[in-house]
Amino acid sequence: MLKSEELHQRRRNIVANGVGVFNSATVSHAKGATITDVDGKEWVDFAGGIGVVNAGHCPEPVVQAIKDQADKFIHTSFNVVTYEPYIELCENLAEILPHGKSTKAMLVSTGAEAVENAIKIAKQATGRDAVICYTGAFHGRTLMAMTLTSKIDYKINCGPFAPEVYRLPFPNTYRYSNGLTEEEYIKQELKRLHESGKNLVNPKNVAAIIIELVQGEGGFTVAPQAYVEGLREFCDEHGIMLIFDEVQSGFSRTGSWGAMDHYNVTPDLSTWAKSLGSGMPISAVLGKAEVMDSAAPGTIGGTYIGNPLACAAALATIQFIKDTNLNNRGVDVGNIIRGRFEAMQAKYPQIGDVRGLGAMMAIEFVKNGDPRQPDGELCAAVVKGCAERRLIIISAGTYKNNIRILCPLNISDELLQNGLDIIEEEIKKATLS
Ligand SMILES: Cc1ncc(COP(=O)(O)O)c(C=O)c1O
Repeated sequence: MLKSEELHQRRRNIVANGVGVFNSATVSHAKGATITDVDGKEWVDFAGGIGVVNAGHCPEPVVQAIKDQADKFIHTSFNVVTYEPYIELCENLAEILPHGKSTKAMLVSTGAEAVENAIKIAKQATGRDAVICYTGAFHGRTLMAMTLTSKIDYKINCGPFAPEVYRLPFPNTYRYSNGLTEEEYIKQELKRLHESGKNLVNPKNVAAIIIELVQGEGGFTVAPQAYVEGLREFCDEHGIMLIFDEVQSGFSRTGSWGAMDHYNVTPDLSTWAKSLGSGMPISAVLGKAEVMDSAAPGTIGGTYIGNPLACAAALATIQFIKDTNLNNRGVDVGNIIRGRFEAMQAKYPQIGDVRGLGAMMAIEFVKNGDPRQPDGELCAAVVKGCAERRLIIISAGTYKNNIRILCPLNISDELLQNGLDIIEEEIKKATLS
């Protein structure tokens, strides 16, 4: 029996079924865009640990920073004993991702924790209870984050959910515009937003609206610029905190520090995680200083907030992104993937949509060219076919009918093209069968 099979067998025996398995790969070590499995075979990684290794597996300066920090101290709890890496990371984040005139930050460990804390801050800043979120959204698996998450598969029998959460349809032009032009569709959705104040929840009770500018688990649907501008106006009109969840879209993935750089719209609060720490668990809430300061001491945080090793990894990751121009590389990688995906779409009518922002690119499989007839089986066959050829890809979307690319951005052009060749060949195979 291969060591990989043996490992999966042991996993099945001891690890709870609810911990999902998206792929058959195992790992002994990883570098750049490749993973070597426990049998010594090399895999190409187009999943990047679900968008966590935009700067590649084990970038040397990040590994070194973790080692150096481990030699000094591993934990004190920032609540109890202050340390510089936490402060320096907050300073760096405020500089690269400003929220208006004055920005403040707090650190925690996971994306879901960042979301939970952002909501708590928004509630304290406004003195209100309600939150509006979107269909197709994914914000994590803790109680508030799971409540905000849309897809039922993630929350089966997990209720009761957090109260006072309301959901609007995400402005998904491809799936829902139904023959309207993009302009007409956005107008319709902004009207729906304004009407929500009459038929969904009183805006005077709404603390926050949380949105992913590019939905991650939702299938890389991109919120249209005019909609986001309208959302900002609506929030300003009613004193609602606008939160951008950039957990999946941050740190070079869209060819910039964040998707928000493409919109020219400033949120009141934002959440960041994943590729910030190159795999070390670190997340951040950033926000306008006066909003951030409205949370009372002790109401936000936790024992492991901004763990020193994770702070060191994040500081080294940010420096690595700057030194290697990774944001620009995100643009280039995005252009390569988009070009290849569009060429595939011209050949295979099963690809209903090619979309994304920068390198946050996806394709959507549908039946009969109909945006409302998702083809999850075809997508699953392509993912499986790629895994058999040691290319790791993951699906996305409510109907698991999208393939999303989250490869390390410092992947070589050659490896990227090879991986895209495999995807194309597997689409060909799956559409013929
Ligand atoms: C947009 C977004 N928000 C929040 C989360 C939750 O992050 P975590 O899994 O680190 O809790 C995710 C995870 O995929 C995400 O994509």
